[in-house]
Amino acid sequence: MSYLFTNIRQLIQARTIAPEKVAGKEMANLPCINDAWLRIEGEFIHTFGQMNECPEPGNDHVIDLAGKLVFPAWCDSHTHIVYAGSRETEFVDKIRGLSYEQIAANGGGILNSAAKLHQASEEELFQQAKGRLDEMIGFGTAAIEIKSGYGLNTVDELKMLRVIKRLKENSQIVVKATFLGAHAIPQAFRQNRDGYIREIIEQMLPVIAEEKLADYCDVFCDKGFFTVEETDMILAAAARYGLKAKIHANELDYSGGIQVGVKHQALSVDHLEYTGPAEIEALLASNTMPTLLPSTAFFLRLKQPPAREMIAAGLPIALATDYNPGSSPSGNMPFVLSLACINLRMTPEEAINAATINSAYAMGLSQTHGSISPGKKANLFVSKDMPSYAYLPYAFGSGRVHKVMIDGKFQIFEC
Ligand code: NIG
Ligand code: FE
Repeated sequence: MSYLFTNIRQLIQARTIAPEKVAGKEMANLPCINDAWLRIEGEFIHTFGQMNECPEPGNDHVIDLAGKLVFPAWCDSHTHIVYAGSRETEFVDKIRGLSYEQIAANGGGILNSAAKLHQASEEELFQQAKGRLDEMIGFGTAAIEIKSGYGLNTVDELKMLRVIKRLKENSQIVVKATFLGAHAIPQAFRQNRDGYIREIIEQMLPVIAEEKLADYCDVFCDKGFFTVEETDMILAAAARYGLKAKIHANELDYSGGIQVGVKHQALSVDHLEYTGPAEIEALLASNTMPTLLPSTAFFLRLKQPPAREMIAAGLPIALATDYNPGSSPSGNMPFVLSLACINLRMTPEEAINAATINSAYAMGLSQTHGSISPGKKANLFVSKDMPSYAYLPYAFGSGRVHKVMIDGKFQIFEC
């Protein structure tokens, strides 16, 4: 099947040759074509241009998109959508004044989700996660990374990773799997941290590698969770099995997480609320993608990461939802863009680059995803009528996605 879209008000992120990432001042450059056409052939983007040079349709299915914009689909490079139930009681505890760390120290938080996940069958977990994933496609997302980390023992971590594998096999969109056994120290190992780290390295990693259950390895390197030394050991072990690092760092403190991630050539380091000159310097000397999760900072009322300083220093930034039951119970990428603009003071151009090209890089998909480029996957969404791309983050919370196309096929989800 081939399509010719005509009269597109703005074709966003249209790049004949796409860079693998954009950094610093380049983040403000968002190539767009006003009054455009776009041709899709099979699964792939074929060609595009301005309406005054529109080709004859031939056998193409022609769709007139007058008034609408076409965006590349979002890449959501950091989520935890395999979980059981929800944690709105902790949401209320936070309103009453408890902090995320206090809730975690009392056995809530990640440990609460681990207890719920332990009770749930693979089938229940799959059905719940599939519902979340389908909803995310409706927000315009066409690639997603999913982490384990609510198992916290060998059996349950493997159960989560098998559910992620099933999602990979049964979803229209690309799914990348990340092993996050080091998400929290489980209750049974509270007095024996080393024992749990040994279980990760000696029991979990060999099976995960053998069964090819993960693409990446993550550690929550932060105050009250895993130390730099522990992170270093786990990432070194993961590397021996060919798993690249993608880690949680500096959400709660200047934890050293960014530096240890860079040391291990992490594909991305994520959260980064606590990023100062030393962290920026380390990132500048690396190929690691700094990834910000503005809906988590919003939901937990954290200090905001210094996006402007990072861009001014010449760094790239990626954006993701962090969809999880404790700190970001939402997979709404357009809302993440609004928060990036409002709270991080990123411009719409920077936010769109961060949620497409740069987030594709943060999940190893630069070649196929992240821009409207000939030869890349025809993964895009058509907006409802709007005057310009800046309207999308501006009109926060209002569903502006009209139709989503994955691999050249229109999806039935709409939001
Ligand atoms: O990315 N920061 C660590 N992990 C998750 C939260 C997990 C949870 O609270 O369930 C996050 O925010
Ligand atoms: Fe996370």
